Amino acid sequence: MCGIVGYVGGQDALPILLGGLEALEYRGYDSSGLALVKDGRVEITRATGKLHELKKLFAAQLAVAKSSATQGIGHTRWATHGRPTETNAHPHCAGRVSLIHNGIIENYVELRAELEKQGCFFKSETDTEVAAHLLNTLLEKGLDPREAMRQMCAAVRGSYAFLAIDEKTPGHIFVAKNSTPIIIGKGQGENFVASDIPAVLQHTRRIVVLEDGDLADVTADAIYIENGRKPVERREETVSWDPITAQKGGYKHFMVKEIFDQSQAVADTLRGRFSIETGAIFLPELAGLEAVAKRLKRVILVGCGTAWHACLEGKFFIENFAKIPCDVDYASEFRYRPQLFDSDTLVVAVSQSGETLDTLGAIECVKDRATTLAICNVVGASICRRADMVLYTHAGPEISVASTKAFSTQLIALELLGLFLAERRDTMSPSTRRAIVESMIHAPVGISNALKVEPAVVSIAKRLATARDFLFLGRGTCYPIALEGALKLKEISYIHAEGYPAGEMKHGPIALIDESMPVVVILQREKTLFEKTLSNLREVEARGAKVVVVTDAPEDRQLGIASDFIIRVPFVSPELSPLLLNLPLQLLAYHVAVMNGTDVDLPQNLAKSVTGE
Ligand code: F6R
Repeated sequence: MCGIVGYVGGQDALPILLGGLEALEYRGYDSSGLALVKDGRVEITRATGKLHELKKLFAAQLAVAKSSATQGIGHTRWATHGRPTETNAHPHCAGRVSLIHNGIIENYVELRAELEKQGCFFKSETDTEVAAHLLNTLLEKGLDPREAMRQMCAAVRGSYAFLAIDEKTPGHIFVAKNSTPIIIGKGQGENFVASDIPAVLQHTRRIVVLEDGDLADVTADAIYIENGRKPVERREETVSWDPITAQKGGYKHFMVKEIFDQSQAVADTLRGRFSIETGAIFLPELAGLEAVAKRLKRVILVGCGTAWHACLEGKFFIENFAKIPCDVDYASEFRYRPQLFDSDTLVVAVSQSGETLDTLGAIECVKDRATTLAICNVVGASICRRADMVLYTHAGPEISVASTKAFSTQLIALELLGLFLAERRDTMSPSTRRAIVESMIHAPVGISNALKVEPAVVSIAKRLATARDFLFLGRGTCYPIALEGALKLKEISYIHAEGYPAGEMKHGPIALIDESMPVVVILQREKTLFEKTLSNLREVEARGAKVVVVTDAPEDRQLGIASDFIIRVPFVSPELSPLLLNLPLQLLAYHVAVMNGTDVDLPQNLAKSVTGE
């Protein structure tokens, strides 16, 4: 997860920026860079690796504690495509502009082609450099910097937090935000900008949180903010956080912070891994699959807990996209069962931590008999070292025991894997692949919008928090989501919950249903399964259960039931529906647990990484 820091004031900017980036290190990164304004000129310094590599380049200035810069911007980048190189590290420069960016520019291919036609020369492979060139072009046309920022933001599509410096307007940091967090820290004769509050806490506790669509012009003495071309006031808050609360980004628990991190985590997992123009999938880390993809006869997905639920979703991607039969197994079962497969098999181990003993055991027991791939969030973890190849999710550190953002990024990684195999096996038309890729880039914004259901979920949680048993129902790709919703609720609230395929309910669980049993139904928009699930829902309703419907069906689609609670999330694509429909369930589990006073981040009897059998 990338980090952003900016400073303008009377102090030496260098240690402030480096200190800010250090405070964001917990987010994970693999390169970093600074732009410092010195005597009206901008100096860019970038390095791969950890911050000490960047610091080495400033050794002389740090030794005399003087960089003679009182303005600058800094960035830590977590590369998601290819090697993390210095050229791809931020800040990116174009003419008089230096710019850093968190987020994803969805239409960068078109913009880049257009800018190249106009004579812009690109040095990096990043989407960010497009914004730098665009801004520079607009400034060179004579627009004032605020207008140039407005027009640049109007031209880019996607999620972003931008910090830009115009060499010809020293003393100003220009900021823009859409679906990616950014805050301003207020000082006396100095101001700070950052992606996250810990970056500025050493210097100020007066924080202004920017909202989507905000543009800001920050100088040492003034902060101007506008939205839709109109000046706006954003409330100043004083944060009184200790370092741990700061890492939680002001949230009460890591779990809820991580739920709200998901838009960024998914953007980071997607970044650089496809071409929007052609629908091509770029996963150089899967080069070892190029030769075997065509002859694969079988894929086996293994994992535990939430990762196993991700595998169940992965089966749809592999079978629908790549047309390869796919089995899903609990790692703990798979490893002790006769494994009847030949060498044209791909075994994929899915694990957030990469240390889960059963998943590691599953990979070890097939080694040398099948091709193995790990989908993992932790670089260099044991499972990654054992597998032939690794496809990293880029969720950033997941601290809460209950897995949330890891699950969403696993779904994205599995979808990319399905598309990668489909492309190599010619099982999907390029236009279909392009349409799916195109939908994926809307995922980060879709997630931000879906999480807006939180207030509605809180009021439902208040009504249901005292229930002792919950049933979660879903069909098709919503069945794994029913399992995941039930797991999340039981592990952090200690309330018994079961996930079931909606069509199986009448084969047993229906006997449990009465007025005391909340039933959460995940209802996808796809017409056939929508109708089938709806008829199961009527059976539940007829038995007096309290029904919660979570759906992405259009508002005018009649439910024809007197459902107690309906939660609607936006629809982005059939493939992304499970991810978005799962978000209210994460929030429901979280708020029910908080209301029941449990230790949300460290639930009883559970460990983040299960290294025993
Ligand atoms: C549930 C949860 C666990 C893990 C499982 C696998 O919220 O966190 O079920 O998903 O222990 O862990 P990893 O993914 O680290 O292998």
